[in-house]
Amino acid sequence: MNERVLIVDDEPNLRKVLGAHLSREGYEVALATDGEAALQLIEKGGVDVVVTDLVMPKLDGLALLRLVVDSYPDLPVIMITAHGTIDSAVEALKLGAFDYITKPFEREELKAVIAKAARSRQLFKKNANPEADRGRYQIIGESARMLEIYSIIAKVADAPSTVLVTGESGTGKELVAGALHANSRRRDKPFIKVNCAAIPHDLLESELFGHERGAFTGAVQAKPGRFELADQGTLFLDEIGEVPVDMQVKLLRALQESEFERVGGIKTVHVDVRIVVATSRDLKKAIEAGKFREDLFYRLNVVPIFLPPLRERAEDIPLLVEHFREKYNARLGKKLMGFSQASMEKLLQYGWPGNIRELENVVERTLLFCEREVVEAADLPEQLREVPTPAQGTAALRPADVPAGKVDAKEFVEARSDEMWRELLVQKLAETQGNVTQAARLLGITRKTLQTKMKELGLREPPDADEGGD
Ligand SMILES: Nc1ncnc2c1ncn2[C@@H]1O[C@H](COP(=O)(O)OP(=O)(O)OP(=O)(O)O)[C@@H](O)[C@H]1O
Ligand SMILES: [Mg+2]
Repeated sequence: MNERVLIVDDEPNLRKVLGAHLSREGYEVALATDGEAALQLIEKGGVDVVVTDLVMPKLDGLALLRLVVDSYPDLPVIMITAHGTIDSAVEALKLGAFDYITKPFEREELKAVIAKAARSRQLFKKNANPEADRGRYQIIGESARMLEIYSIIAKVADAPSTVLVTGESGTGKELVAGALHANSRRRDKPFIKVNCAAIPHDLLESELFGHERGAFTGAVQAKPGRFELADQGTLFLDEIGEVPVDMQVKLLRALQESEFERVGGIKTVHVDVRIVVATSRDLKKAIEAGKFREDLFYRLNVVPIFLPPLRERAEDIPLLVEHFREKYNARLGKKLMGFSQASMEKLLQYGWPGNIRELENVVERTLLFCEREVVEAADLPEQLREVPTPAQGTAALRPADVPAGKVDAKEFVEARSDEMWRELLVQKLAETQGNVTQAARLLGITRKTLQTKMKELGLREPPDADEGGD
């Protein structure tokens, strides 16, 4: 089969000329007018070589190059540069471009470069090892602890054994569950996720095992549960620690015997499902407290995978920051070049209570607001620059974004991005001198909700500030 070359350029003429050249050489040609369109085509698969211009609207050539190098390291990218812009060509090569060609094209040069790239691609395809390729599943991190996790994933992905993924919130438990599925022979079969914490207790059984018609009020029709939907595939039970004890018995049986009955049904259903469960709770403690059955724990804990908190593998922070910078540059159409050393130090020093999810949010938010090319420490959100005691440091807020006084928190945040929560909370806490109760009142939410939100965002409750305020 002929190699497929994707030409990315915003100039229609250039696309036409290049395209004609390449078809004449026997290549299949695909065209895109900017980096974003190119990425979409690449994601669909089937592209063997990318030839891209440097300057384009939306996502430019270098940004596209970065993304490709990151996500498709074996897809050769050739940059088109104008004469006299050798610097950018060199930069492109440093970033991992396969080669560059200069405008106007020398036919022979073009032919040679593309042929070389196509050959390299052929070689890669021949030696491709899809298992290893899928191994990473976009999990970023090269620390010893992460390497260990990759090796466990590779070892157990294809085994039928139940895997228990633990770790603090935002450490990537769901990502690992997905990687296990993607690396298994079940990868083309369903990956079904159930968030046990999100389903009301009285609906959990029917959600998991399905129900027959008329099993309970509202059961107008028979419905298969997630176990049945996951047949032949993987069932991911997230927040397993939240399953009520009486359901745990039923779950245990389903796991042990691979069979169960639908709610209100008499027929026994058999399924072939690989089970991955996750929890950010300490199940051992839950057992002691009588909230989790020990027998179920042992049944689940066949292969434990513990994801360390980000603060214990801070060496991965720069890589993660890079990864998310590229992701959000592309997504938000930004061209942020990087983080200054001072800002990186802040990122490294911070404790990341929300782990990678928090880091991702921080990078996204920083990109969104930063108007410089390189992020300085001052551009980072409040919680990274200092412990957020509401009495100080509100200067960095964009007060214009948050109206003074009473605000309907839900409406306010819904109209904006989730990231606005932090801005909103910090601002209201500042207005009330850190009085959580009063701040909650201004926001029209309960004190408890506010505290939970603060915890999620890694905002510390100001010492003493709330005492007596109640
Ligand atoms: N190692 C990683 N590399 C890249 N992205 C990551 C990594 N770990 C986590 N993420 C990203 O961080 C976010 C949170 O990850 P995930 O949902 O898997 O965490 P979790 O442990 O399930 O959290 P929770 O307990 O709160 O459900 C996701 O957007 C995920 O893609
Ligand atoms: Mg999760």
